[in-house]
Amino acid sequence: MKTAEIRRRFLDHFEQSGHTVVPSAPLLLDDPNLLFVNAGMVPFKPYFLQQETPPFDRATSVQKCVRTLDIEEVGKTTRHGTFFQMNGNFSFGDYFKAGAIEHAWGLITGSLDSGALGIDPETVWVTVLDGDDEARGLWREIAGLPDERIQARGLLDNYWHMGVAGPGGPCSEIYIDRGPAYGPDGGPVVDEDRFLEIWNLVFMQEEITNVRAKDDFDVVGALPSKNIDTGMGLERVAYLLQEKQNLYEIDEVYPVIERASELSGRRYGADAGDDVRFRVVADHVRSGLMLMGDGVTPGNESRGYVLRRLLRRAVRSMRLLGFDDRALPELLPVSKDLMKVSYPELEADFARIEQVAYAEEDAFRQTLGKGTQIFDLAAERTKADGGSRLSGDRAFALHDTYGFPIDLTLEMASEQGLSVDEGGFRSLMAEQRARAKADAKSKKGSHADTGVYRAALDAFGPTDWQAYTTVETESRVIALLSEGASAPALPEGAVGEVVLDRTPFYAESGGQNADAGTLEWDGGRAEVLDVQRPVRGLVVHQVRVLSGELTLQTPLHAGVDPQWRLGACQAHSGTHVVHAALREVLGPTALQSGSYNRPGYLRLDFGWNGALAPEQLHDVEVASNRALREDLPVSAAVMPLERAREVGALALFGETYGEDVRVVEIGGPWSRELCGGTHVQRSSQIGTVVVTSDSSVGAGNRRVEAIVGLEGFEYLARERDLVQQVGTMLKSSPTDVPAQVQKLLDRLKATEKELDKLKAAQLGGAAAGIAEAAEDLGGVAFVGHRAEGAGGGDARSLALDVRGRLQGRPAVVVVIGDAGGKPAVVVAVNDAAQERGLSANALITAVGGPIGGRGGGKADVAQGGGSDQSGIPAALAAAREAVGRAATGGAAVDGAGR
Ligand code: ALA
Repeated sequence: MKTAEIRRRFLDHFEQSGHTVVPSAPLLLDDPNLLFVNAGMVPFKPYFLQQETPPFDRATSVQKCVRTLDIEEVGKTTRHGTFFQMNGNFSFGDYFKAGAIEHAWGLITGSLDSGALGIDPETVWVTVLDGDDEARGLWREIAGLPDERIQARGLLDNYWHMGVAGPGGPCSEIYIDRGPAYGPDGGPVVDEDRFLEIWNLVFMQEEITNVRAKDDFDVVGALPSKNIDTGMGLERVAYLLQEKQNLYEIDEVYPVIERASELSGRRYGADAGDDVRFRVVADHVRSGLMLMGDGVTPGNESRGYVLRRLLRRAVRSMRLLGFDDRALPELLPVSKDLMKVSYPELEADFARIEQVAYAEEDAFRQTLGKGTQIFDLAAERTKADGGSRLSGDRAFALHDTYGFPIDLTLEMASEQGLSVDEGGFRSLMAEQRARAKADAKSKKGSHADTGVYRAALDAFGPTDWQAYTTVETESRVIALLSEGASAPALPEGAVGEVVLDRTPFYAESGGQNADAGTLEWDGGRAEVLDVQRPVRGLVVHQVRVLSGELTLQTPLHAGVDPQWRLGACQAHSGTHVVHAALREVLGPTALQSGSYNRPGYLRLDFGWNGALAPEQLHDVEVASNRALREDLPVSAAVMPLERAREVGALALFGETYGEDVRVVEIGGPWSRELCGGTHVQRSSQIGTVVVTSDSSVGAGNRRVEAIVGLEGFEYLARERDLVQQVGTMLKSSPTDVPAQVQKLLDRLKATEKELDKLKAAQLGGAAAGIAEAAEDLGGVAFVGHRAEGAGGGDARSLALDVRGRLQGRPAVVVVIGDAGGKPAVVVAVNDAAQERGLSANALITAVGGPIGGRGGGKADVAQGGGSDQSGIPAALAAAREAVGRAATGGAAVDGAGR
């Protein structure tokens, strides 16, 4: 049975029994504790906690999930996949244990003809939580399961929670016996390969907190209602029903392995090591595709880093399979064609996805190129030191600095007959991981405790938020916080947080900075420093009390600085304008991946390869300002997500089904984006858009920055003043400035040339004197000269000049310049001296020692540098000695060491 068919049967089964079918939420949801959605229940969390009223009592979904903790296990076991789909049915205070068991049993064992999965009831085993006799009894009654196929386990296996504070409850897991060929008898408590878990029914009834371990947490109390959350691994059921050995061989994944096999010329199933690589390729290509589909771009932090790792691991695995060309353009389309059956948006977005993926692969190939050189060097050194083992330090440096993966290091080392100190490498990795973990922990602390905010939300309800309609309200203080805890008052001078019943302040979100302004009350005044929404629905102002004391219940006047707000609106609308202009100039694949704006300034990150040409940047600026001059109307409308999709609103990432979304338009379809920000009413109010820069922010991502509004005008005015100043200095009109500057540059060049000539003549003059002063060392004319203030080039000309003047007899000339305090040495030896066994290349070594330097060259001329000018006299003496020794028949000074 095809995966898509299992999925359809699942949804139909639950739809027929009154469940609303809810489309999958994107993989990224706005939850600071969660990197990616990792279970079917995540989008429903506010309903379980009753923070929001669910629009249905029962629902069913097939949710996209990503779990990357086990990334190293992928391909090695049969069950680890980084991307998977979780089928689930959910009850919010509707049916409970009995209902959940009935529904599950019906779907698993009902006949194929009736639309169910047709699994033999004799193969079904279940587990329940120790002491959950109710669940045990229900399995006996409803499914007729014999007692021995109902096994009890502890909290570790049979209690489910999200791993962080939130809802949780006992669970009952359903396993299918694949038969004795897969392992020993005895049920899931004995062997989880033979007995394959396919479905987890969670009896969600408690709120938990302080999660210290899977089986160690505190229970806050019972949830307001008893709920059901279930999760069936779609891929697992697929490989069970398709009679495959693992999830990489199912219909939605295997064709990628086949393509990888064609490309590499290696066969899947022939070699255990290669098989792991094939599976890594198949898994990671699919996970990467799904993440990029939901708007993730490769980066060095958090979500972006996970994506980067997945893509790079896939590319590297292909290399290890012997395929060295660009792999993703061959593999990604295969995965897309498989996955688009369930996720049609992948097809529509594929141009953008491809661009991101291939840029990342190209960047990685460069890294590999660079790393390979460093590897070769490390291998050479190891051999030169007489070793046969690459040190852990070197392997780690390759990994850490050049992103060079250890298994590649291992393979390349073995090609060179070297081993690698893997133990040393691993312990360095472990240290690094421990550091990263400590870091992540300390980061988590900053938004760990949302309890106080939630309590305020529970007690007073959501803030009456007026940011779209006004800049001032009469409000009342309903909660005060000092250092994260409730406080009765904030005294003069204090910085603390204030919750008001109603506020006109915009809380930072969607790239728009928070509003600035003041709170004023009878006898006091506070400045608003920041505004955030730490939990949905609650606006919190961070303030500094300028005078008086702020106490609970105080009525006050909340006022946003109107100039600030105007600036904020200009900047945010400006961001949309620049985005639309970019797409007009570069095409529809130039899609925003991030943005930030505050009065006067905006920046926009977008998917694009390579720098923009100056003309393109100019075109973007022109298109933006044309949109301003056209005075386009700006409007905002709230509509269901589905409708927003239909009208083609951009940036549909992170929204959940069922949500109403706000769509902001500028000039109708010209710019249509999902956005919660504040905007001007007509585009002309933005004033002006001045694009100031284009820069890179990682592979496949560019950033444009712009200045808008009055600040834009001021920026241009400053530039004009500069040009005027320069014009005054050059005594020319601003339009003549470039020509005048060119003239000046030409003159400067001519003068420099003249100067060089003069210098050469001067040196030439000096050369005659220096040559005359040559000393005779056993028939060899020797000159050792310090050229004050000369650099390498001058020292060389001087040395060659002097040598030329010593024609007709063996001569060695050593000149050391000292420009900038850095010795620069040139040794010149003529033919006659070379015949006497003298070599410039060998002499330079003798000279290098005292000045802390080295150099090289040929027998006639050698050149080098040093770091210690105090050693120059000693260096000249060393040269003299070496020449003297060679000339009088002592030890020869010769490059070959004869
Ligand atoms: N939420 C449960 C799980 O992820 C069903 O296993």
